[in-house]
Amino acid sequence: MKIATILGTRPEIIKMAPIIDEINKNGIEQIIIHTGQHYDKEMSDNFFRDLEIQTPDYNIHVGSGTHGRQTGRMMEGIEEILLKEKPDIVLVQGDTNAVLAGALVCGKLHIAVGHVEAGLRSFDMTMPEEINRKVADICSTMYFIPTENSAINLLSEGFSRKNLIITGNTVVDACFRHLEIAKKRGFEEESLKNLDMENMENILTLTMHRAENVDFKERVAEIIAALKELTDMNVIFPIHPRTKNMLEKFGLFDDLKNLEHIHIVKPIGYLDFLLLISKSTLILTDSGGLQEEAITLNVPALTLRYNTERPETVTAGGNILVGSDKKVILENANKILNDKDFAEKMKNAVNPYGQGDAAKKTVLAIKNYYDEGVLNITAPEEIMTSFTRKMTQINEDITVNEFELNENALIHMVFDGDKMRFPLDELNLNGMIIIYDKYDDN
Ligand code: UD1
Ligand code: UDP
Repeated sequence: MKIATILGTRPEIIKMAPIIDEINKNGIEQIIIHTGQHYDKEMSDNFFRDLEIQTPDYNIHVGSGTHGRQTGRMMEGIEEILLKEKPDIVLVQGDTNAVLAGALVCGKLHIAVGHVEAGLRSFDMTMPEEINRKVADICSTMYFIPTENSAINLLSEGFSRKNLIITGNTVVDACFRHLEIAKKRGFEEESLKNLDMENMENILTLTMHRAENVDFKERVAEIIAALKELTDMNVIFPIHPRTKNMLEKFGLFDDLKNLEHIHIVKPIGYLDFLLLISKSTLILTDSGGLQEEAITLNVPALTLRYNTERPETVTAGGNILVGSDKKVILENANKILNDKDFAEKMKNAVNPYGQGDAAKKTVLAIKNYYDEGVLNITAPEEIMTSFTRKMTQINEDITVNEFELNENALIHMVFDGDKMRFPLDELNLNGMIIIYDKYDDN
């Protein structure tokens, strides 16, 4: 078996690293394709170093540009490589342009796609990431889904339950493994050593880069206005290149840099960054990955967005959506900083993203699918003339697994009278309504 991984940005390198590592451990042949979307050392090379994974076999060097140009160039490059390498499955991760490009190319070449971190939805079609993840899901063969909640998103869009695999999120694998290494090593980035981070207290880690925030002057200005008032905190701001460019364009960069309690530094490596957030009292961010890492490392997070595709962090109580509204940001930040019980509750929120074994589950599932021949994409032999799903109410104690064995069926959806549930094998269906397929009908 041969697995190809496509990645291109900082979070993809971080979240694919545990899977790349696991593929190596299983002795499976693999190639890594870098799209080149992130190219600064601080946004790319340093992560291969810190996460101890091999450098990519290919780099398409797409660089920066408009969505069309970037995605188009990626597609051309990916197609050429895949035609030559002929992998059995291609893995894409998350919601960047690489995911869109990779999934589209594979769909047309009849190569199986495994979408890592599938099923997330912000329900906000103005976000490029929402378009990317939805299109990628349509073209995918295997879905590695972080939570039951995200699996339900896919079920409600009509996806078959067959290839949905709940794995947790590989960010937890990366976090657990690398925080230990980082703690033993201590801070190494010059910028952080100069700030004497080991002895610093009252740390607020800030990151932002979302187009819907940093591309709009009023929104960034409002966030900065809130930061200006948090003078009791040491704000550490590893600035994303997009954000730096935009702040300079808006004439806001120097204004922020000159504030004594705000420390703007270059994007920092993963080990230093994990240490930084683990020492933080509060995280202020619009990053997807950081919302997950915050709850994994028990640090309260305020998310500078009005929606999130990580609603589990909010319902668990570890994350609050504050948008870019100065008043709301300050109200919530001050509550966390001054109300110990409130802060404790946020810290103790239960991590919904698993135990750190997502990569193991992912690679095991790929091996099984390969052995069963599911990765061979062929046209269906029997064309179904109509949609055959059935619906019924269950009035006995019977688990999903038992029902499926007895009836030779596959349950897609379960309603418990209140909400949709994912048909986990051991779920007792008594009193629930199910939608299912009988295998003999197809
Ligand atoms: C991309 C992803 C976003 C992800 C983020 C992670 C898409 C549509 N967006 O956004 O989902 O959350 O990565 O960080 O795929 N730049 C540099 N050096 C670099 C890379 C970028 O200076 O190494 C600058 C360029 O001016 C570029 C801008 O940052 O125009 C934006 O980069 P781009 O890759 O287009 O999007 P991100 O904002 O990084
Ligand atoms: N990160 C890092 N150094 C930094 C900022 C972020 O290592 O200076 C890591 C962070 O731990 C997280 C990931 O980068 O795992 C998040 O990337 P980003 O916010 O760029 O993208 P998103 O997750 O929003 O797609």
